[in-house]
Parts: sequence; C-alpha cells; structure tokens
Amino acid sequence: MSAAPGRPKQARTAAGGEGTPVSVARPPEEARTAGRKAEGTPEFVPFLDLAAGYAELQADIEAAVLRSLRSARYIGGEEVEGFEAEFATFTGARHCTGASNGLDALSLALRAMDVGPGDEVIVPSNTFIATWFAVSQCGATPVAVEPIETTGNIDPARVAEAVTPRTKAIIPVHLYGQPADMDPLWAIARQHGLRVLEDAAQAHGALYKSRRVGATTDAAAWSFYPGKNLGAFGDAGALTTDDATLAERVRALRNYGSQQKYVSDVQGGNQRLDPVQAAALRVKLKALPRWNARRAEIAARYLKDLAGVEALGLPEVPQWATPVWHLFVVRTPHRDALQKHLAAAGVETLVHYPIAPHMQKAYAHAGYRLGQFPIAERLAAQVLSLPMGPHLTDAQQGYVIDTIRSFAPVAR
Ligand SMILES: Cc1ncc(COP(=O)(O)O)c(C=O)c1O
Repeated sequence: MSAAPGRPKQARTAAGGEGTPVSVARPPEEARTAGRKAEGTPEFVPFLDLAAGYAELQADIEAAVLRSLRSARYIGGEEVEGFEAEFATFTGARHCTGASNGLDALSLALRAMDVGPGDEVIVPSNTFIATWFAVSQCGATPVAVEPIETTGNIDPARVAEAVTPRTKAIIPVHLYGQPADMDPLWAIARQHGLRVLEDAAQAHGALYKSRRVGATTDAAAWSFYPGKNLGAFGDAGALTTDDATLAERVRALRNYGSQQKYVSDVQGGNQRLDPVQAAALRVKLKALPRWNARRAEIAARYLKDLAGVEALGLPEVPQWATPVWHLFVVRTPHRDALQKHLAAAGVETLVHYPIAPHMQKAYAHAGYRLGQFPIAERLAAQVLSLPMGPHLTDAQQGYVIDTIRSFAPVAR
C-alpha cells in the first residue's frame, strides 16, 4: 500500500535532541498496515513535526529572512541586535549576546568567567555531552554530580558534597525543559564564591518559582538548535546575563576578542550569531509562549493518561516548577522493547541520552568506570522520549497513549 496522499516518505524530524539531525525512516510497510487501524488512526507519528511548525509561520519567516538578506548586513547588525534585545526581554535578563550555538555560548561564558586549566566545574552526570565539553574546552575539569532520578535534574545535596577548593562554577542543566532547583544551588555558590551558569538549552520560557530560567543566576546559555522549543533553521545560540561586564567579555570573545575592528584585546574566536537566523528567531520567539502552552497541554494529557501504567516512570514536577516540556521522557526497564513496540506501530521515539557522558569514549582518558554514576547509567538505559511538540495532534497523541497502554497493561 502506498503512503497516504501528502504524507512524507520520511519522518520530518530533526531530532528533539542535538547533534547530527536524525531523519528516521518510516516504519516497515507491514507494520504500518498491520490491520490494526481504526478509521482516523494516524499512520505515522513523528517525534517532532518541524515541517508543520514551519508551515504555520511560513509567511512571516520568509518575509523576515528576505528582509535580512536584502539588508546586505550579513554579520551582526539590526537583526542580531533586535533578537538580542527581544530575547533579553523574554527571559527577564538585562543582556543577551547572540552566539553561534549552545555549546559555544556555554564555553564563551566559562571563558568570560575566567574558568581555565586547574579549575573544576560541577556538571550533571546525566546531560547532553555539550555541558561537559564546554568545560573541557576551557581546559577545566567537569566534576559530575548525580541527579534526582525522578526529575532528572542535578541534586543540590550532592552538589554541596562535590565542592572542593578548586571548584570555580556550577552548571545546572534545566533538563528536558524542567527547571533545576536553583535556590539551594545559588546558596552553595554564594557560600563558596562560585559562579553559576545555567545550561538553559532545553528550557526556553520555563519558570523557576515564577521567575524565567535564564535570569536567576550569573548567566544562562541557550541553544536554538532546530529541534529546541525556540529553534532556528540551522545552528544558533545565546547567552543571557544581568552582568554587563560578563556580557561585554562574551561579546568580545565571540568576535576575535575584538570590540573595535582589527583590534584584538584577547584571543577570541568566531562564534557570532548569524543575522539570517536571528531574523527567523524573532518571528519564532513570538510564537514561543503559544507553542509552549500547547506542549504543556500535551504533557498534562500524557501525565494523566499514562498514570498507573505498569513499570512506566513518569516525570515528576516539583510544585515550584513550570516546565516547558522540550521533551517528555518516561523511564522503564523495558525501554528497548517499548521503543520497538512503538516503532512497529509507526510511533517515532528517541533516547535522550543513551550513553552517560562519563561512559563516552571522549572521556576514556579520565578513567571513569561503569557503576561510578549509577543514576546516570540507569537513566541512560531506561529513558525514552515520546512524541512531543506544539503540532502533535490530539489524535496522534491518543494513538501514542493507546499504543503504550497496549504494551504495558494498567496496574490494578
Ligand atoms: C543540555 C544541552 N546543552 C547544550 C546544548 C548545545 O547546544 P548546541 O547544539 O546548540 O550547540 C544542547 C543542545 O544541543 C543541550 O541540549
């Protein structure tokens, strides 16, 4: 049977996660047509439908991109400055400095905080590898701290135990769009004179105790990777901060260490935000609150309709947290089997992340061993990210839920 008219041959996913964009092939024909379809059942549920997001905003995005191209300002300029001002307002921070991507925003911030060789930076044991790489790129050492298993976010009690005289900074990650518990982290930082840099790559618009993340500490680094809640059409990132000196240093570091053309005060790099991306981001920023609200609706339904499913752990949301549900991540010891069951039914899922950073080959030199960070290792073995995004339809979500329930019967 051929695909229904208008349906893509491939999933339209550009991974809700990071790194190489993933385009997962459609499931096998027989799985999609296996005589289980009631009228109106979706044939394929993409993990994230980027094409639908583009279609919704197409006219405005294309007008903005054309405006940028026709301006002949291809580095910096009005679009970059406009986005920086608008994103600063959105987060509630005083300054926003655009950057080439989230990893660069993190490492620029650390460099601007004078983090370097000999320093330690506390990072979660379960995060996207960029958080660790940013530290390593500065010549400093990432010191892993385990998360609270049910929220996935760094455990402040363990952070307190990990501080040494060499600790320079803490990088909490608002993982999956759920804010980390910032007040105790901030208290530890003040007590020991540490900087706090939020990795807010997954949390555009999330609230911690009614405050937007990204404006509660020294600085926050953002990614606008296409699959993020606020995603560009290529790589892009930013740093937000209330600290004018830090913002200026990052501004210089991202531009050859230069504030005045051809005058370099420090050895900076080329890590600037592209104006065409900035123009498009300005359009998408306007849609972000609405799109986040739809994500919240979807999450609420998953939480309600998947409650009680046997051997399925759902994300726990502390009462002070307003997540933005970049990802909806469940935990189960039967992860691989559940993922296969969903794939056979045409439901695309991803794993964020299958290998904990300390077990990556990239850190083989550091001599970590299996079992050293058991929570991160268990999460890597058990997490599964369900379809989530502002354009997931009610019918698609219902189908995902039914498919999960048909795998794991409701506990009685
Ligand atoms: C938690 C986290 N930190 C950092 C990054 C790095 O962002 P980028 O891919 O834009 O470099 C990402 C996303 O990719 C991320 O999810």
